[in-house]
Amino acid sequence: MSTTHTARHARAPQEAGSAYQPIDGRLLDVEDLHVEFHTDDGIARAINGVNFTLDAGETLAILGESGSGKSVTAQAIMGILDMPPAKIPQGSVRYCGQELLTMPEDQRRHVRGPEISMIFQDALSSLNPVFPVGWQIAEMFRQHRGMNKSDSLEQAVRLMERVAIPGAKSRVKAFPHQFSGGMRQRIMIAMAIALDPAVLIADEPTTALDVTVQAQIMGLLAELQQERQMGLILITHDLGVVADVADRIAVMYAGRIVEQADVYELYRKPAHPYTKGLLDSIPRLDQKGETLSAIGGLPPNLLRIPPGCSFNPRCRYAQDVCRQDRPELLEVAPGRLSACHFSQEVLHG
Ligand SMILES: Nc1ncnc2c1ncn2[C@@H]1O[C@H](COP(=O)(O)OP(=O)(O)OP(=O)(O)O)[C@@H](O)[C@H]1O
Ligand code: SF4
Ligand SMILES: [Mg+2]
Repeated sequence: MSTTHTARHARAPQEAGSAYQPIDGRLLDVEDLHVEFHTDDGIARAINGVNFTLDAGETLAILGESGSGKSVTAQAIMGILDMPPAKIPQGSVRYCGQELLTMPEDQRRHVRGPEISMIFQDALSSLNPVFPVGWQIAEMFRQHRGMNKSDSLEQAVRLMERVAIPGAKSRVKAFPHQFSGGMRQRIMIAMAIALDPAVLIADEPTTALDVTVQAQIMGLLAELQQERQMGLILITHDLGVVADVADRIAVMYAGRIVEQADVYELYRKPAHPYTKGLLDSIPRLDQKGETLSAIGGLPPNLLRIPPGCSFNPRCRYAQDVCRQDRPELLEVAPGRLSACHFSQEVLHG
């Protein structure tokens, strides 16, 4: 996907009057985002200073092991964290230049869905089993666009056709259990794009699907992204799945982005030992449950993140400085960011 700055020109006419317009193509600015969970055992520091941007027409993959903070980052952007136990002690999330973290809920409701939409990690189980799928898609138009029953159902059929559900017209009244996993995921995508959002966050959109269906779903997301010039955030623990679709990859570890780069550059030459470990694990991606297993050890307990670089207990490059000073995410080559005291050695070694 090439990055373009045609902004929202390709969006549906009903969105032309949106109160939000990207500034120089920029949709999202996430700066120094922190999220912590106040638990009985102490404070779990799930997000520890995340920074990234997303432009119209761009696909950013957020990659990391389980527990690295991918979903919490998405939930913070969507404004759906339960607070408490969650708290956002510092940081900023701007959408088209407007701060979301302090935006009143009645205003934010108009962002969540019509502007920034999300496909949830447990999407396959989040369809309501007792309502027909068409009715559930149509509900988006009734709620947000005030459409009547027959118009909203007509829109639902059009969307089901767009996400390539065969026989959409005759299946609009079918129930979720009458669809395969891949088709249910298409229905979730249809619901997420129903209001023509400028930003779509897809949290592990293919995890529960077999490899062929995974490829079809990624292909569909890529098509929709190009067609609508959406900013797409693809969350995954599986480097193989996003490689063909993403423009940039942000690698997360213990609630921080430790490397960010153009997909091709990152594959060619990682600048962070953690990314290098992830790439080394790629040959095992075809073995279910074995992804990312080439790196020894476990991610840190978020109640007690080690001082210095949080990756140091697992890093074969670690030196004394790594146990004392936390490396900042810095530009280590044009367009390349890495948070490692020895980025140059990793990059050129
Ligand atoms: N409500 C909560 N209370 C306490 N801790 C939480 C809560 N929600 C999330 N966390 C913690 O925050 C950390 C980050 O969670 P998150 O769901 O973002 O991980 P993830 O990167 O999406 O992982 P996965 O790949 O398994 O989906 C985890 O350690 C998780 O246990
Ligand atoms: S800062 Fe040190 S411990 Fe952290 S990734 Fe770099 S070399 Fe490894
Ligand atoms: Mg998750």
